[in-house]
Amino acid sequence: MCDDELIPPRADLTEDQWARTAGPGPADAAVPAGPPDAPAPARGVHRRTLLGGAMAGAALAALPFGAQQAAVAAPRAGAPGRFPLPSAPGPAGEYAVLITGDAGTGAAEQYAVTAAAAEVCRAEHVGLAVGLGDNIYENGPESDDDSEFAEKFERPNTGIDVPWLMVLGNHDCSGLIPGSGGDPSRGDREVAYAATSRRWYMPARYYNVALPADGSRGEPLVEFFALDTNPVASYVAQTDPHYYWNGPYMREQRRWLDAALTASRARWKVVLGHHPYLNNGKHGSAGSYDGFMIGNYTSGIHLKKLYEEVVCGRADLIMSGHDHTLQILEPTDRTRGTRQLVCGAAAKTGDGKAHFTHPAAWQDFSRHGFMVLKAGGGAMTIDAYTVDIATKKARLAHRTRTARPVAAGAGAGAGAGVGVK
Ligand SMILES: [Fe+2]
Repeated sequence: MCDDELIPPRADLTEDQWARTAGPGPADAAVPAGPPDAPAPARGVHRRTLLGGAMAGAALAALPFGAQQAAVAAPRAGAPGRFPLPSAPGPAGEYAVLITGDAGTGAAEQYAVTAAAAEVCRAEHVGLAVGLGDNIYENGPESDDDSEFAEKFERPNTGIDVPWLMVLGNHDCSGLIPGSGGDPSRGDREVAYAATSRRWYMPARYYNVALPADGSRGEPLVEFFALDTNPVASYVAQTDPHYYWNGPYMREQRRWLDAALTASRARWKVVLGHHPYLNNGKHGSAGSYDGFMIGNYTSGIHLKKLYEEVVCGRADLIMSGHDHTLQILEPTDRTRGTRQLVCGAAAKTGDGKAHFTHPAAWQDFSRHGFMVLKAGGGAMTIDAYTVDIATKKARLAHRTRTARPVAAGAGAGAGAGVGVK
């Protein structure tokens, strides 16, 4: 099992403040206590590992993770010869979509999961894939053409030759500290990379895609709304005013999402965001991430509000990663019929246990895996697969089927879970 996220000692430190708390001497001695339910082993030990016990100032200068500012990227076209977005459903009349998350390690586990997924993709006529963030561990790409794009995305996914809708995770937007989410501008490199990749689809930091992509069949059947959740769920406080939780970037993204959901004529609406709204895994849910109940960033309180005020009751699904687990949570009155999926086990796994008790149709906290979403005119199906890393084989572990969209008043309990032995 593996879940090595660094947890800050306090909410809403800047990266610089966090790094300096790990200066010389016993790392915990000069650090105010974290919240009582923050995972204690993550404190001190990880910071010492990060900074190697050096003087903080010197360590900051020596760290390989530069916090360079990149220009804000405008929406871009994809690469020449890129794999096309689906313009027609598969033979079963459904759009089949591979869902993965937290995949970008370049390690053997990622290769095993994608090998298993490729087999399922062929059988299920998958025409589109989703990467739910943390695409390039540990600190995102160092440039628009970083070799990590090949090592941690293109090579592992060879054979899954479809467009990948990519969203930004905290590891894609970090500066000094791996996973901090403290330098959103680094995500612009992933937008820029889409211009040169046949697979990587990220025309902007947040965007929507409706299928069929060519609009040739009247109303779309399914529409995806890819969010950038990092400025309202980072482990650290943002230092660029553009990315403040209440700054222009998040205000514009909220306006865009609200308008896009209103305008959508799609039968099924799916929101993609790296950080989950609800989550039974160790990182917990928006508003209380990792036990932090205060602050504007670390707790995710403003992402909770975004999900509750703009998404719940309007989208059928919220798909997230961040926790390295597989969860198909039930729609409830609280979510106004919206169902949360957590699918972040494409390269790492969780700690083997549930930490919270949100109602779940099915969940797994210890195995690698992925999901396949099948959106048809009559129903939407979610298949959850676990993967045996040694044999590189996938096993269908659970199937959930929903017949009525949220917009049609499906409400809580509309889904039907089917266990698969
Ligand atoms: Fe993450």
